[in-house]
Amino acid sequence: MLTGKNIILGICGGIAAYKTPHLVRLLTKSGANVKVLATASALKFVSELSLSTVSRGPVLGDMFAADRSAESDQTLHITLGEWADALVIAPATANTIARLSAGMCDDMLSVCFIALRPDKPVLLVPAMDGHMYESPSVRRNLSVLATQGCRILEPESGELASGQCGLGRMPEPELIVETLDEMLEPLPDSRLKGRQVLITAGPTREKIDDVRFLSNYSSGKMGFAIAAAAARRGAVVRIVTGPVSLATPSGVERIDVESAVEMMEASSRFFDECDIFIGAAAVADYRPETPVEGKLKKNEPTMEIRLVRNPDIIAAFSAGKRPAQLAIGFALETAGGIGYAKEKLENKGLDLVAFNVYDRSTSGFEVDTNVLTLLDRDGTVSELPLLSKEEAAGRLLDAVEQLLQ
Ligand code: PMT
Repeated sequence: MLTGKNIILGICGGIAAYKTPHLVRLLTKSGANVKVLATASALKFVSELSLSTVSRGPVLGDMFAADRSAESDQTLHITLGEWADALVIAPATANTIARLSAGMCDDMLSVCFIALRPDKPVLLVPAMDGHMYESPSVRRNLSVLATQGCRILEPESGELASGQCGLGRMPEPELIVETLDEMLEPLPDSRLKGRQVLITAGPTREKIDDVRFLSNYSSGKMGFAIAAAAARRGAVVRIVTGPVSLATPSGVERIDVESAVEMMEASSRFFDECDIFIGAAAVADYRPETPVEGKLKKNEPTMEIRLVRNPDIIAAFSAGKRPAQLAIGFALETAGGIGYAKEKLENKGLDLVAFNVYDRSTSGFEVDTNVLTLLDRDGTVSELPLLSKEEAAGRLLDAVEQLLQ
């Protein structure tokens, strides 16, 4: 995939920079043309000579280098922005992440980030101390960049330069090349391209009092995998999610909510404009009628909480949808029961339902895999094998594309 691809590798000043000559070697061995942009701090950790030797070219960094005389060299950032098929920044430090998220462009790396053509992918590989990585400012800046469409390759856990163990290590260069390779894979000619896809994901939390809630085990993995796959197919994707600890997939707009009522309010704002609604969330069917202010006291041996029905989000969408809009639902059961899925397809007015069983080890909540049976409005039933949630998401979207025919 990388044969003939033009890759800019941005290197920032972190200890993981020592791995970058190997990364350049892997990229060039895969057939890519590599230009290295290093910040001044990066060159304190890795030598310019090593990088220029392995990349077979100069290391760029100084925006105002005195030896740039040719006309094209004076606008090198523009030339590079046009030249590159992708930009990889590894390691990406907290400082560079902050500067990029703020739109600053006062060195060669940041100016190239801004000058890169908008359809070209950016892979950010943060590496730093785990506490720095988890700090609110780094999380906020990464989330801004993810919303802009940058792919974030999460750091790994292990021994850090400080001697401590934890999250923050830069993934090995092999994984960086593999991820880039996947990002540059040409998009299949998808019917989802340009379509608006609205996805619900994760659990909802229904307040009992100010410190307790009713909820379920949904992790959001299934919904987020669908969002990532739809975005890769060129769809315009929004995800309305209950509380989950997952990174926002590249190019996906994320709206965080807590309760079913909030999920309903946030989703319904986009009902009219979306082409496809996919309900992967495990929405609580009931909520406590009157959440107690403060903390409930345990004075009585038993307690009753009166529950009232929550709005059914996907049913509300289906009831008002235009014929060209698609409603795709999930049906979760704890055993067998494909009949329940058929009932949901009919009662909720769905075009397709993905039936899954919660077996605690391979399918349903929390795990990384799922076994889906897809039932569509025309009576077609497809039983999928055990797949990763990413693969299952792809197969679900293939079925959605069939319905768009
Ligand atoms: O998040 P993970 O840990 O990856 O787990 C994935 C999953 C198991 C949550 C997912 O695959 C799944 O099955 N989601 C739907 C779970 C569910 O609540 O099913 P249900 O049978 O109760 O609901 C049927 C459909 O109606 C679903 O599309 C649901 O999103 C929707 N619904 C339900 C109730 C409600 N008030 N509003 C809704 O929109």
